[in-house]
Amino acid sequence: MQNDLMNISAVKENFDTALGTVSNLDELNDIRVRFTGKKGDLTLLLRSLGKLPPEQRKEAGLEINKLRDEIEQRLDTAAKNIRDAENEKQEINDRIDVTLPERGRTAGAFHPVIQTMHELVNIMQGLGYSVATGPEKEEDFYNFECMNIPAWHPARDMQDTFYFPDGTLLRTHTSPVQIRSMLKYGAPLRVVCPGKVYRRDNDPTHSPMFNQMEGLLVDKNVSFSVMKGTIAEMINAFFGRSLKYRFRASYFPFTEPSMELDIECVECSGHDEHCRVCHGTGWLEVAGMGMVHPNVIRAGKIDPDVYNGFAFGFGLDRMAMLKYGISDLRLLFDGNVSYFMSGFEGAGKC
Ligand code: DAH
Repeated sequence: MQNDLMNISAVKENFDTALGTVSNLDELNDIRVRFTGKKGDLTLLLRSLGKLPPEQRKEAGLEINKLRDEIEQRLDTAAKNIRDAENEKQEINDRIDVTLPERGRTAGAFHPVIQTMHELVNIMQGLGYSVATGPEKEEDFYNFECMNIPAWHPARDMQDTFYFPDGTLLRTHTSPVQIRSMLKYGAPLRVVCPGKVYRRDNDPTHSPMFNQMEGLLVDKNVSFSVMKGTIAEMINAFFGRSLKYRFRASYFPFTEPSMELDIECVECSGHDEHCRVCHGTGWLEVAGMGMVHPNVIRAGKIDPDVYNGFAFGFGLDRMAMLKYGISDLRLLFDGNVSYFMSGFEGAGKC
């Protein structure tokens, strides 16, 4: 009896020591198994009862059961304490410090080209223009024929085209929307037509897909100066300041006379001979335009003896790059956002 009672108090002492070292639920579980498990110390004690003289068994059994109750109760209490401590720690970690400064917003934003398109469309809407759209998979008829570019015309080579087997194509410019708008709305007419266009080009300064915005005004007695005023208004409103501009004589089959528009370099205003944007010329080519060719007006089922007009085509990607200081065209179409962000050199400058 003496011997077994000593064993009982040894188990109790061992349990006290072990419990004192516990710091988490896993360790506590190990102790539970060590003392109350199938091969645990308490079970072994109970099994050894049979070796005692019968008169001592009852007292020893009571003693062991009492110890088991105590151990189980203390294990439960310890588990609860550990859980409470962990919860409290978690709560402290999760607590929101409302006095901290805000982290700044990372909400999405428009792509610079879309932003540019919205800005230009807004400006033109302010001048009374509506937005018209057309299909990107276009018919040769609208893309070329109606634009005064018949099949034999060498100007077809200026726009290397993606054709579908059925002879339709990916539109090479937004100009076919001129025809579609004239046919749909008649004259007088003021529309801008933003959208994607496609050409078989792929190098550092050309992408096979890019964005344009077409403009068309058809009315009676439209003069060159109306076009000049409209374009100047648009450019100045877009860049937020008054820029110098000039027209250079050019050639487009769908306008006569035709010209290209150069604006003062938005980076150096012509003062830096090493300017990375204008390469020291002081000028940036931004659009093609002209007085609409009578053949085009006629293709739109409008009488060119009564109506005339002007049209223009801007590269939206180029306008976005100039306004937001983006140095490489490919950055606009790359999916890697961090790479894209690092490509901004003068974002928000203008
Ligand atoms: N369609 C021409 C191009 O993609 C741009 C253009 C030039 C559009 C003159 C016009 C225009 O409306 O009048 O290169």
